[in-house]
Amino acid sequence: MTNKKRVHQQVSECSVNLSRYKSATQRKLTSSTIAWSIFFLLLATTSRLFAQNIVTIPVETAKNAMVLQTDKDGRLGIIYFGSRLANNKEYAAIPNQYNLKSDNLPTYNSAYTPAGTWNVIEPAVQITHADGNMSLDLKYVGSDTKKIDANVSLTSILLKDPLYATEITLLYKTYFKENVVEQWSVIKNVEKKPIRMQKYASANLYLMGNDFYLTHYNGTWGNEMKPEEDHLSHGIKSIDSKLGTRANLLEPSAFMVSFGKPATEDEGKVLLGQLAWSGNFKIDFEVDNYNNLRLIAGINPYASEYQLAAAQEFTTPAFIYTFSSNGKGEASRNLHHWATKYRLLDGEGSRLTLLNNWEATYFDFDENKLVDLFKGAKKLGVDMFLLDDGWFGNKYPRDADTAGLGDWQENVKKLPHGIGYLVKEATAAGIKFGIWVEPEMVNPKSELYEKHKDWVIRQPNRPEKYYRNQLVLDLVNPAVQNFVFGILDTLFTKNPTLAFIKWDCNAVIYNAYSAYLQKMGLPQSQLYVDYVKGLYKVLERLRAKYPTVPMMLCSGGGGRVDYGALQYFTEYWPSDNTDPVERIFIQWEYSYFYPAIASCNHITNWSKLPLKFRTDVAMMGKLGYDIVVDKLSEKDLQFSQQAVATYHSISDLVWHGDLYRLVNPNQNPLASLMFANAEKSRAVVFNYLTNTRFMPGATPQPIQLKGLDATKNYTVKEINLYPGTESSLQSTTVYSGNFLMTVGINPDVDLERASVLLEVNEVK
Ligand code: DGJ
Repeated sequence: MTNKKRVHQQVSECSVNLSRYKSATQRKLTSSTIAWSIFFLLLATTSRLFAQNIVTIPVETAKNAMVLQTDKDGRLGIIYFGSRLANNKEYAAIPNQYNLKSDNLPTYNSAYTPAGTWNVIEPAVQITHADGNMSLDLKYVGSDTKKIDANVSLTSILLKDPLYATEITLLYKTYFKENVVEQWSVIKNVEKKPIRMQKYASANLYLMGNDFYLTHYNGTWGNEMKPEEDHLSHGIKSIDSKLGTRANLLEPSAFMVSFGKPATEDEGKVLLGQLAWSGNFKIDFEVDNYNNLRLIAGINPYASEYQLAAAQEFTTPAFIYTFSSNGKGEASRNLHHWATKYRLLDGEGSRLTLLNNWEATYFDFDENKLVDLFKGAKKLGVDMFLLDDGWFGNKYPRDADTAGLGDWQENVKKLPHGIGYLVKEATAAGIKFGIWVEPEMVNPKSELYEKHKDWVIRQPNRPEKYYRNQLVLDLVNPAVQNFVFGILDTLFTKNPTLAFIKWDCNAVIYNAYSAYLQKMGLPQSQLYVDYVKGLYKVLERLRAKYPTVPMMLCSGGGGRVDYGALQYFTEYWPSDNTDPVERIFIQWEYSYFYPAIASCNHITNWSKLPLKFRTDVAMMGKLGYDIVVDKLSEKDLQFSQQAVATYHSISDLVWHGDLYRLVNPNQNPLASLMFANAEKSRAVVFNYLTNTRFMPGATPQPIQLKGLDATKNYTVKEINLYPGTESSLQSTTVYSGNFLMTVGINPDVDLERASVLLEVNEVK
């Protein structure tokens, strides 16, 4: 029964100094059992003391707020999530407007739902104490908001069990201007013996509303980021991964939740979120009995019970989210602004255009063939040549994906003069040189496997099961971490001008078992988590020594694209599928979460669609080629050379401009999107036909542009034309921004002009 009792709440801005509290606690804990009892007595008194003051904690960005508040018993709940109120004193009155309390029902809005006491709903945290007891209650102890700089703040809230010495700190890092929040938790074992954690979420949100729509993604190799939008009904819908490595292969953690009705590009309330973690994740979306949405995001508890020794703490990965009341477009721009400034490596910098040899040669190359390809790269005008898979292994040469992985010595038949020679030849050809590695993996047909079976993740007494003929190395083991670091370190030490790394990861974890954990007497259930921690340790170490070298994050396509990994990488490979029509859809969906500067788009021969179409699609991100330049016809070569030059002239817009999606290919036979600079003086518009069925004439309707200044005047010029073709558009007509954004412009897309690129320039 709904209890209509309204609790008069006194707002207190009371904030306890966390560090003072913690050190006092620690001192007490080192004393005798009597001291323990005194401590808990004090704690109970403290809790009661706090319970008398209702504490309201707003976590705010420029446009949004999440507001937390303690109840009369000192338990912390979320009372508001949405647009920021003008007067933050009014947050305290919000609960009075909701009738959510019922004495015998759980507190659905808990800021971090503990398991095993009275709150019998899906928990955010579940712990077995040292004495075997499985109950947890969490009460507010204190909070603190620190300004890291003018834009970034960190709010920490300490919660504690009144009975057991478990401390949990909830952390909220806000990026004010970008409207992005990073949220995570730190669980500390202050007991004298190890505790075990069955669930340890990063974030537990409570979203008030009546109808929620979840957009989530499924996929597989070559078929990444297929969106689905569901109306969430009562109960729990989860998205998760249990794949270990290559965790996003079937489903990434990135999602959108629309409030009330499905958000469009420019309308509706929408939250975009993801877990910054390159391993197993689970995100629960639970519509409760009040029709509100509980959201719990974190590492997947599946097979991942984690032990915490006394005094040890566990920091969960960050759940990253943004909210917008103005649709998905603004929300995604929030993420782009945040990512380029704060997360993606060198997000505000530039990128290298390149020629990759994977689809051009596969494993079939030698140094002469490669040196010939260098000339092609130079002819094209790209910055770099990227040597892909197949350059290593001698006892078991890497001539196919069945052997050699793990043996990182140049294959003497293919490369008798080694990588050093290739770097030198590339430099002589006037381009940079980059290289592919897949350092986390091993083929059973390799010297590494023969020598170090104990480094391989495999069940000792079960038949091995392979994914792409390979197994995963046990990155939990520090010796394996050293080995993986050493592969890259040796390459850089021997070739200091090596300009680029493509880091691949092609297998999932089967038969999860770590010989190292066994040896150390640690539970096998820590494998999935410690693997990712081991991976990050290696990447951390690599970045400490090589902070700037660009690296592409690849996982057999887009099997590992997340903001956990992207802090170490400059870019990612969205998919092995380079069919341009498929890529329009794949790149479109990724664009909600990641900026275009990070999206590696290569022109290949996967599809026989015209080269211009393939090129125009690749240009809406970071341009690359994967072709044999010498096989291009004269006209195709001429076009490509011009295209590379054109790309260099617009790349600043694509890399650093604001993205506006104009026509959605999921709803139309056309895709249209544009990038405009912050000054609104220049933009580039990409238009693609996505359906090659007969259409009578060209696009019937104009496309309304966005992101321009209504009061400015502009010309619109078609660019990247194929040699010998002329634009059907008048490039000298001057339009007002008002006209272009209200009436729009017709790019004249039809079967003959299946892709049209427009450059918009202010006329002064
Ligand atoms: C998978 C990647 O996605 C491809 O681009 C290529 O590097 C192959 N691996 C090489 O094995």
